[in-house]
Amino acid sequence: MQAPLLSVQALTTTFRTEAGVFPAVDGLSFDVAPGEVLGIVGESGSGKSVTALSILGLLPDPPGRIASGSIRFEGHEIVGMSKSELRALRGPSIGMIFQEPMTSLNPVFRIGDQIIETILAHEPVSKAQARQRAIGLLDRVGIAMPERRLDDYPHQLSGGMRQRVMIAIALACSPRSVS
Ligand SMILES: Nc1ncnc2c1ncn2[C@@H]1O[C@H](COP(=O)(O)OP(=O)(O)OP(=O)(O)O)[C@@H](O)[C@H]1O
Ligand SMILES: [Mg+2]
Repeated sequence: MQAPLLSVQALTTTFRTEAGVFPAVDGLSFDVAPGEVLGIVGESGSGKSVTALSILGLLPDPPGRIASGSIRFEGHEIVGMSKSELRALRGPSIGMIFQEPMTSLNPVFRIGDQIIETILAHEPVSKAQARQRAIGLLDRVGIAMPERRLDDYPHQLSGGMRQRVMIAIALACSPRSVS
């Protein structure tokens, strides 16, 4: 086989949060040969985007950090490269099509509050009832541990989770076709 264009070995990327340091990517390895197309499939929040951001040197650091592992592009080690070296590599050699930018959610409010606000604007329910409804909506759109995710800010979610939250907010308005 040809020498890989990209070689990721035992990549571990962590995030420091209020509750401790957690790996978002834990010991990931793969190679991509020149001309090869690789698709990475995984459930929402499993670390696909964090893997890509790690390769591009675009992790929000802090709280994100490549804790260990190696990323070689055309034989050059990327982990530990300076910002200017990474920038020089990114332009001509590596591109990224980003997942939805943080447009529709307000970055300064917890997602739970944003869903609850929408429910309260549409239904004569108490705040506690609206919170229960919000948990149900997050569950319905496939977000795991919804009662915990309610207190996250948008930037703490994966892109797909943010898309799901936007769907939950749309459902909170009880459009006719889903009520
Ligand atoms: N800035 C951050 N602070 C804290 N945790 C984060 C941050 N960014 C991502 N995470 C966490 O890292 C994990 C992996 O997220 P990632 O965005 O890589 O998921 P993904 O596989 O791309 O999901 P999706 O299919 O929904 O796009 C998630 O649990 C997410 O909450
Ligand atoms: Mg993603």
